Amino acid sequence: MTQAKKAGASESRLTWIVNPSDLNRHGTLFGGQLLALADRVAAMAALRHSRLDTVTVSIDKVDFVAPVRHGYILDMTARVHFTARTSMEIYVEAIAEEPRTGKRELVCEAFFSFVAVDEKGKPIPIPPVELETERDKRLNKEAKARYDARKAGRAQTRTAREAKSD
Ligand SMILES: CC(C)(COP(=O)(O)OP(=O)(O)OC[C@H]1O[C@@H](n2cnc3c(N)ncnc32)[C@H](O)[C@@H]1OP(=O)(O)O)[C@@H](O)C(=O)NCCC(=O)NCCS
Repeated sequence: MTQAKKAGASESRLTWIVNPSDLNRHGTLFGGQLLALADRVAAMAALRHSRLDTVTVSIDKVDFVAPVRHGYILDMTARVHFTARTSMEIYVEAIAEEPRTGKRELVCEAFFSFVAVDEKGKPIPIPPVELETERDKRLNKEAKARYDARKAGRAQTRTAREAKSD
């Protein structure tokens, strides 16, 4: 097994200012745009953790907590808190800052799963993550339950697909 890597070593950040092209017709940030940014910052953490090519394989429990308005500054952070053999789960948090007052609030959080792949797109092993903080440890426990549920869900979908093609 490859050597464990500290969660903090691959923590990644991305900052974005919300421009008119990012807005929906209510004048707030598109959820899809926020998700794309979250995927991007999560990809940075996945790459830094594994130092391999990685692909997004699922997104769990996305919560849009508060609207983000024109001119707000978004600070996104991604951190690996769970690894299995070839996959990892990454927590992404988005904080929006009101530009005039500097008031900051959590606007979105989500859990991304990435898989490391070789040049043929086949999953390959990644280093285990070394948990550093109490939050890493709590998220790691919850992630194992999500990992098991996703696995069971995929098996169920497969069974349903097979039954349909009988
Ligand atoms: C990622 C991918 C290579 C996995 O292939 P696969 O044949 O399902 O591989 P396996 O069943 O052997 O699973 C490999 C790992 O992926 C994980 N995995 C597979 N499907 C998953 C899903 N839907 N959600 C979370 N993890 C998943 C498995 O748990 C396993 O992890 P582990 O080795 O840590 O236990 C394949 O699903 C793929 O290429 N998906 C498209 C990815 C992509 O293009 N993303 C960009 C979207 S635009």
